[in-house]
Amino acid sequence: MLQGSEMPGPAGVPQRKMTYFVPKSDNSNEQVRVPNVIALVGLPARGKTYISHKLCRYLNWIGIKTKAFNVGEYRRKACNLEEEGEFEFFSPNNARGQKIRDECARLAIEDMGKYLDNKEGEVAILDATNTTRERRKLLMEFCKNMMHEPPFRVFFVESVCDDPMIINSNITEVKINSPDYKGIMSQEQAKEDFLKRIENYRVQYEPLDEEFDEELSYIKVINAGKSFYVHNVNGHVQSRVVYFLMNIHLLPRSIYLSRHGESEYNRIGRLGGDSPLSENGLKYAGKLREYFENEDLEDFRIWSSQKIRAAQTASHLKDLAGHTEFWKCLDEIDAGICEGLTYEDFESRYPKQFAERDKDKYHYRYPSGESYEDLVARLEPVIMELERQSNVLVISHQAVLRCILAYFTNQNRDDLPYLKVPLHTVIKLTPKAYSCEVEMFKFDIEAVNTYREKPQ
Ligand code: SIN
Repeated sequence: MLQGSEMPGPAGVPQRKMTYFVPKSDNSNEQVRVPNVIALVGLPARGKTYISHKLCRYLNWIGIKTKAFNVGEYRRKACNLEEEGEFEFFSPNNARGQKIRDECARLAIEDMGKYLDNKEGEVAILDATNTTRERRKLLMEFCKNMMHEPPFRVFFVESVCDDPMIINSNITEVKINSPDYKGIMSQEQAKEDFLKRIENYRVQYEPLDEEFDEELSYIKVINAGKSFYVHNVNGHVQSRVVYFLMNIHLLPRSIYLSRHGESEYNRIGRLGGDSPLSENGLKYAGKLREYFENEDLEDFRIWSSQKIRAAQTASHLKDLAGHTEFWKCLDEIDAGICEGLTYEDFESRYPKQFAERDKDKYHYRYPSGESYEDLVARLEPVIMELERQSNVLVISHQAVLRCILAYFTNQNRDDLPYLKVPLHTVIKLTPKAYSCEVEMFKFDIEAVNTYREKPQ
């Protein structure tokens, strides 16, 4: 048990002695697979919701079922925003505001608990400010309570930011358009109000402290990832979270996805193989070059699969990019014994396999080949590297690009294998604060349609 030492409190708040009911860091008796809570910490406009959205999307995509619980949304449901959305509501001296805010945090924590206890998911993200020790203590006590079997493992992600550029862009691009303000006041008024809200939080803020919070597990993300302080990481999920947070960035950029031009095998409806481009496929490669000449991107990279049809497409654009790299892990799904067959051959030769695939396309693995689930695992390094980069064009294949598109657009596993990634089309993905803009540019060059509808 950690008996908390006397710590200097924030301005105007009396010092308290805190006790976290947390086992000592010897966790040899803990189970390995336990529900995890990831709790954000930080002042408003420090990108907590951005982190929460991205983490949620990433963990779900790698197969760890995750849900975010945003305390601000509970507050908006509980309050009349016209009367109670303004900065005074967040003042430490506003007893009614404090009471509602405590109640909303309690409701969110309880919902999170039900979600984990009912095994609806493995990870819950508490997207809230959690700026006081009191609030973090409440959360720890809830998570470590023996009513949860096993108790939840908690990881704090504190976003610390004193870079005025980052804070300002978060306020002007995201906060002033939030439901707290939209249609209620002008953008200038909203900005002014939000800055005062931040000050109301600042007077109560108790950052995570190396000594005081010795027993907790946490990461401090400083100035949107310029540096990190990582403490007491415990288990697989927390390690993955740290790995992910150390790779993401906020800089504006676009990711472009394109299949290779139409191939000879596409023309005759055969799966996989390693055939060259058809005549129309070659025309597409030329048009793709024109498209990127017009985009005129800085720090532009091309990543292609190692299949002939993809490499041939990429070769037309080589001099437009700083680097062109050929990744084996961007090669198309391995169709095993079905490589080179048409869908008709597949159905007539292996009717049981064909039916199995239609039943659960995400998990179905071609004999001696791969499943979509395998592909996602194979593509994780690509996703992580895409997170780190600026403008990248990925030239790959239908199944591979479906997995990448599903990551950026947060699609579930049932829909992923049926996403539309047509030939001779560029998909431009532009990450935004809490989402990703998707634009499709279809080129006017004939190509076969390789899409197979989801069976009813
Ligand atoms: C909010 O009400 O918008 C944030 C709630 C919190 O402080 O966690």
